Amino acid sequence: MAKPSARLRVGFVGCGRVTQGLHLPAFRRLADWQVIAAADSDESRLNLTANRFGIPHRYPDYQTLLADPNVDVVAVCLPPQLHVEVALAALEAGKHLFIEKPLAVSLGECDQLLERAARSPRKVMVGFNLRWHRLIRRTREMIQAGALGELELIRTTFTTGGTLQTDFPEWSSWRTPGGGALFDLGVHHFDLWRYLTGAEVQEISAMSHSRDAGGQSVVVTARMDSGLLVTSIFSNQTTDSNELEISGRKGSIRVFCYRFDGLEFITAPGSFGGLQRLPSKLSATLMAIPGAIARASLGGDFHSTYEAEWRAFAHSIRNDTPVECSLEDGRRAVEVSLAALASESQSRPVQIPESPRYGLGTPALPSAGEVSEPIQSATDLLLRGKVV
Ligand SMILES: NC(=O)c1ccc[n+]([C@@H]2O[C@H](COP(=O)([O-])OP(=O)(O)OC[C@H]3O[C@@H](n4cnc5c(N)ncnc54)[C@H](O)[C@@H]3O)[C@@H](O)[C@H]2O)c1
Repeated sequence: MAKPSARLRVGFVGCGRVTQGLHLPAFRRLADWQVIAAADSDESRLNLTANRFGIPHRYPDYQTLLADPNVDVVAVCLPPQLHVEVALAALEAGKHLFIEKPLAVSLGECDQLLERAARSPRKVMVGFNLRWHRLIRRTREMIQAGALGELELIRTTFTTGGTLQTDFPEWSSWRTPGGGALFDLGVHHFDLWRYLTGAEVQEISAMSHSRDAGGQSVVVTARMDSGLLVTSIFSNQTTDSNELEISGRKGSIRVFCYRFDGLEFITAPGSFGGLQRLPSKLSATLMAIPGAIARASLGGDFHSTYEAEWRAFAHSIRNDTPVECSLEDGRRAVEVSLAALASESQSRPVQIPESPRYGLGTPALPSAGEVSEPIQSATDLLLRGKVV
């Protein structure tokens, strides 16, 4: 392990879209970190990534990376179905662990990882990067300070053009490895529902576009244990959008994660917008411009989330403080996703304790009698479906 004063040395397992496009560019501004190794079973991608980002050690086999004593921290950036196998091996090798969302494809796998991590002195953090979005953090502070009063409703949108692009990974089109908008995309907002409000999801319903049989365009409604109601839309086959509106009795906040002036605080009940709100909107936008220009050179608010999560992880490792996004958080979001998938395939609301423990992947299928019949048949459906 690196000395406390030295740079933390990270090795990436998986050199795909998230590693090349989002994490590695962030490390150019992280003086506390050094990317020293990368592993990918696709050797041409491995070499391309290592050459582009100047990574000295490259391994086609991730086990060799785990055996490298110079690696302090392992980042698991693989298709979700492979997360837990590699994460368990990384902990066994004595490494700190960063693991991309969704944590796993089954609750059984999540529990296996939680159990192993509890016996390890190393830090483990899950990569829900939106928790480090400047405007999301501001919104959370305002909610905690009571600016919205008692919360009533949340409405969110998370959409991409993923399936319409040529580099959309094959696994993202399939449910079993953890793809589909409800799982791979929705899990970000399922985490934010909890992160922003402190409440847990109690019941969820999901419906997908009739063309998809449950995959790339979905609508979700939910009730939190505080009584708060939520509705979200997720899609991988339209334009890019990442927005949330949180409404309370004293006010509402709208957050647009991809806009520099993306936070609107609405307090006056009975104001119907139009020209009435124009002066305040204009002055807020003008005031946001200088900060936006400064942040644009760092990639803007959204891209800065990746840099911020690595800074936070370094802080936890160096100071032995709890991570800001734990395995338990990762498990909770998977649980909500699995319940939503079960609801979508059974066409009924699903209570969270009913989430299928064994999820999407075949490795964690239940033993006889472990689950009730209705959920088993839902999962049978899930295991069959290709999402197109
Ligand atoms: N937080 C975010 O904003 C964000 C964004 C995109 C993806 N993700 C998550 O990151 C993870 C990876 O997604 P991606 O889009 O980069 O996928 P990807 O398919 O682009 O990359 C995965 C890489 O893993 C490699 N790989 C597969 N099996 C391997 C093995 N056994 N050993 C070594 N390498 C192997 C593949 O060759 C590929 O290069 C997923 O969990 C995804 O949900 C997170």
